[in-house]
Amino acid sequence: MSKFDTIIRGGRVANASDTVVCDVGIRGGRIAALGEDLGDAGEMIDASGRLVLPGGIDSHVHLAQDSGPGIVMADDFESGTRAAAFGGNTLVMPFCMQQKGQSLRQAVKDYHAKAQGKCHVDVSFHLVISDPTPQVLGQELPALVGDGYTSIKVFMTYQDLALSDIELLEVFSTARETGALVMVHAENYDAIRFLTERLERAGKTAPKFHATSRPIPVEREATHRAISLAELVDVPIMIVHVSNGEAMEQIRWAQSRGLKVFGETCPQYLVLTEKDLDSLNMEGAKYVCSPPPRDEASQRACWLGLQTGVFQVFSSDHCPFRYEDAQGKLTPKARTSFRWVPNGIPGVETRLPILFSEGVVKGRLSLEQFVALTATNHAKMYGLHPKKGTIAVGADADIAIWDPERKVTITQSILHHGSDYTPYEGLEVTGWPVTTIVRGKTVVSDGRLAGDRPAGEYMARNRSPYAAPPDFP
Ligand code: URP
Ligand code: ZN
Ligand code: ZN
Repeated sequence: MSKFDTIIRGGRVANASDTVVCDVGIRGGRIAALGEDLGDAGEMIDASGRLVLPGGIDSHVHLAQDSGPGIVMADDFESGTRAAAFGGNTLVMPFCMQQKGQSLRQAVKDYHAKAQGKCHVDVSFHLVISDPTPQVLGQELPALVGDGYTSIKVFMTYQDLALSDIELLEVFSTARETGALVMVHAENYDAIRFLTERLERAGKTAPKFHATSRPIPVEREATHRAISLAELVDVPIMIVHVSNGEAMEQIRWAQSRGLKVFGETCPQYLVLTEKDLDSLNMEGAKYVCSPPPRDEASQRACWLGLQTGVFQVFSSDHCPFRYEDAQGKLTPKARTSFRWVPNGIPGVETRLPILFSEGVVKGRLSLEQFVALTATNHAKMYGLHPKKGTIAVGADADIAIWDPERKVTITQSILHHGSDYTPYEGLEVTGWPVTTIVRGKTVVSDGRLAGDRPAGEYMARNRSPYAAPPDFP
């Protein structure tokens, strides 16, 4: 009898540190051996000419999230994780969104109920704190962090979500005490309101004015303020979805001073620009997300942030709405002003091919940097490493097998998300994930879902080693 359930034979196995040609032996859902000619197993997967990579970890996705009256997100946990699996991901991290007045524990229960039995890849949750009451900060949050919800997102913008500076300080301070990692959405809410009202008074209400209402200084200022507030209480933070060089420079400046400030950018800031919002009629709504895509100089700055290590993680910020839908981008109110267009775009399935093609194939990133930015660093940053994010003996067998030469034109008809469009329509990429394996089970193969039911499981997480301030016990 073979020592292995499955052997992936003869592929180029790439980790964040190095790339070697070898076999991968899988037993009981974990990687049991790496070596030359591991022999035979019940299941043999020929990976010659292929890349064998750690499954993608997308640490910033929104699924089945309550999005306001009359608005419905286009992906539930089934369709969102299906799209993730087809895109070479083996784990995604959506948010449990606390509504104002709601208990955080209840929000967690609600999102578990939405996910239960539906996930094609593994799932782990961040918490969103919109109402930092003494009860939430004093009791619920410490207990939840202890239970494995070890990261929190806070917003500096959006009605009903934006926290004041004192609220941010209170969350930061509790995060420091509990060892949670804080993700910050850095845009100045008051500045956006001021600009939005001025634009609306001038009759400038088309989707393209979404970008005008949130220019770079709005993001730069909030990024700097978040960094300064975090410095005051000595807590590590992750600035998410950074869109431009000025915000990136704030993070680099903080890092150069020894502060534990981390950064994330996303595909929309590498391949889209503000011009995409300036399409005929309401088409620009397809690209409305926050922060908005900027210009070519901003794209270059985001590449530099990835290349030089200012950004540790590359996520999709998948936040899908349907376009031709009165509960999606085209709500009756959205037709009256950009202010009401639901914010967010789909991208969980296209994140990896876009970075592989634009980054690795075009020579901007090494293969090892790609693996770090799309899998390993997510696992490390959010307390899942070394179980996740690496192809190593003892790790979960979460693997994506890629055809590095496959040429694909991204188009809505080939994707598996619940949205009715992709913002990357027509983008030509080289390299595509062909097989996705979650804890040893093949989930996607030859363009089809494999297995008779969703194989994904919920993953509680350890505290992030990156969230520990220097003198944390
Ligand atoms: O526009 C965006 N990014 N929507 C998703 C919510 C968020 O801020 O991450
Ligand atoms: Zn955000
Ligand atoms: Zn987001």
